[in-house]
Amino acid sequence: MANVAVIGAQWGDEGKGKVVDWLASRADIVVRFQGGHNAGHTLVVGNQTYKLSLLPSGVVRGKLGIIGNGVVLDPDALLGEIAKVRAQGLDVGPHNLRIAENTPLILPLHPALDKAREEARGEHKIGTTGRGIGPAYEDKVARRAIRLCDLAEPETLSTKLDELLLHHNTLLKGLGAATFEKQELLDKLLALAPQLLPFSEAVWERLDEARHSGKRVLFEGAQAVMLDVDHGTYPFVTSSNTVAGNAAAGAGVGPHGIGMVLGIAKAYTTRVGSGPFPTELKDDIGKRLGEVGHEFGTVTGRPRRCGWFDACLVRQAVKVGGVQGLVLTKLDVLDGLTELKICTGYEIDGEVFKRLPAAAAAQAKARPIYETLEGWTQSTRGARSWAQLPATAIKYVKRIEELVEAQVTLLSTSPERDDTILVSDPFAG
Ligand code: GDP
Ligand code: IMO
Ligand code: MG
Repeated sequence: MANVAVIGAQWGDEGKGKVVDWLASRADIVVRFQGGHNAGHTLVVGNQTYKLSLLPSGVVRGKLGIIGNGVVLDPDALLGEIAKVRAQGLDVGPHNLRIAENTPLILPLHPALDKAREEARGEHKIGTTGRGIGPAYEDKVARRAIRLCDLAEPETLSTKLDELLLHHNTLLKGLGAATFEKQELLDKLLALAPQLLPFSEAVWERLDEARHSGKRVLFEGAQAVMLDVDHGTYPFVTSSNTVAGNAAAGAGVGPHGIGMVLGIAKAYTTRVGSGPFPTELKDDIGKRLGEVGHEFGTVTGRPRRCGWFDACLVRQAVKVGGVQGLVLTKLDVLDGLTELKICTGYEIDGEVFKRLPAAAAAQAKARPIYETLEGWTQSTRGARSWAQLPATAIKYVKRIEELVEAQVTLLSTSPERDDTILVSDPFAG
């Protein structure tokens, strides 16, 4: 099977965009299968930097991009992003971007509810991106979502808006937030229809055709396993399944169609938003990781929390995410640290755990158990072969492989596309 799926193995921002862009040269089609514009994927190609949220990262290589039904789609965000990348010289239109007709839409009432609820949570807030992702997925599961195909049916839109507004205005009113008018929303959707419908199709059919003609498909995950709604640090998670298994449901292919699963992990750990983070460093080392790694959210601009590599967590992500090959990124950010730590287990109320328990209070109490390794003073930034890496850096990578029970497929040593070490070709199957 010459397909590849790329998923995050920590709490997001591992460098999935860079990896997908790099791998896209070997693929024909790049498919987003979950999440929405809460994702922020940064690609650096020469002197151009592309920041993508909804567009599959393959568009930068001119590959066919598909937004699958598992995504929640904000029409304004999509059209804004298309305009932005066009201004950067990329050619994006219905000829190279297809969107599943059954994709649920994010409407203005979704971010409004997202923000009102976060405010009401106060100090218990999740730290969402405020983009309406959670409320949009709730509507999908509750069977009241407006989907892309509904834009072609004004009658359906009208009926669905009645149901949506009954639900949302009741909630918004209860939270003391502004409510929405049906006519305004209907007019907006009808105006969007001619702009969006040219992208709409049964993408499952195109993917089935691609399978028959031996085309290579790259599935691009957003967020990460520790933000997965089932397997992550619930409730401090996003509202979709981020594991590779969801690539099948979120794109409309069978489970055998996903191919080789790559899990992306940074050589340390970061997290945006609230929630447990056992290896978080609130000291100078954490600050240094943030500065050297430029750890600021692509979407929110908020500084990311930083800490040591948590092998326990990534091992868990490897198992539940179905990861067959590890991509380790940002090794260069550790340059100059003479001592490195890797978390190999947790201590909770005097007991030792080899996995993060599911219960929220236990997660919050988890204290990391560390193994200490020698660092390196040489620069690894921009390295493109193992031979350019110091022996201690190779040792660090090898120890991670052992602990997380996955072999390294790719290694990334700078934001730049080609500063990548290929160990084995994931498309080789
Ligand atoms: P994604 O959400 O997983 O696609 O990751 P983001 O793009 O949000 O965040 C990763 C950041 O790290 C981006 O700014 C990338 O340009 C950058 N990056 C990716 N790989 C490397 C690397 O190997 N070294 C360094 N220094 N930066 C990297
Ligand atoms: P990429 O694809 C990092 C986090 C938010 C918040 C939680 C829920 O760039 O890795 P949501 O808006 O999804 O309801 O927020 O999930 N989050 C991310 N953190 N990278 C992302 O995407 C994220 N997408 C959502 O910060 O903690
Ligand atoms: Mg990101």
